[in-house]
Amino acid sequence: MATKTIPERKRPSPPPPHADPAAPEVTREALIAALNEDLAREYQAIIAYVVYSQVLKGAAYMNIAKELELHATEELQHALTIAKQIDYLGGDPTVTPKPVKTSDDAKAMLRFDLQNEEDTIRNYRERVPQCEALGEYAMAEHIREILKQEQEHLIDLATALGEGPPDMSTGNGHR
Ligand SMILES: [Fe+2]
Ligand SMILES: [Fe+2]
Repeated sequence: MATKTIPERKRPSPPPPHADPAAPEVTREALIAALNEDLAREYQAIIAYVVYSQVLKGAAYMNIAKELELHATEELQHALTIAKQIDYLGGDPTVTPKPVKTSDDAKAMLRFDLQNEEDTIRNYRERVPQCEALGEYAMAEHIREILKQEQEHLIDLATALGEGPPDMSTGNGHR
């Protein structure tokens, strides 16, 4: 990370002109903390996809192994984007991933990935309105872009497991 000078970007942003009364209350500090949780999940995803893509064996898993390699590179881009937002907000990006589960069983590995993607999607869906509540509309757009890819990851994994994608439309109180 570049040397920190006294950054203009640390100034508090003004409240949005027409704040949604239903929007969640969030401070910049709380948003930084939440984004650091997101960053730790992105690191977890990078590690899981790097390892799983190489150890998945068997003809049945050739295609998904290639997909997982692609996911790894996309998760790295997400990590860079989230770290940039944390730095912009004046926070320190974390250096610690969430723990990565391992298994010798291909289905179990895909299941871990699927669960992580669900968790990631739920969190980013919360993050979008939090960013907007602070007037950080560009940040909300960055997170929407990431969300699109996470949903594609979820579908890839569910397809590889021979399932429909899990219903993410209910149960978390967000949209
Ligand atoms: Fe990601
Ligand atoms: Fe993902």
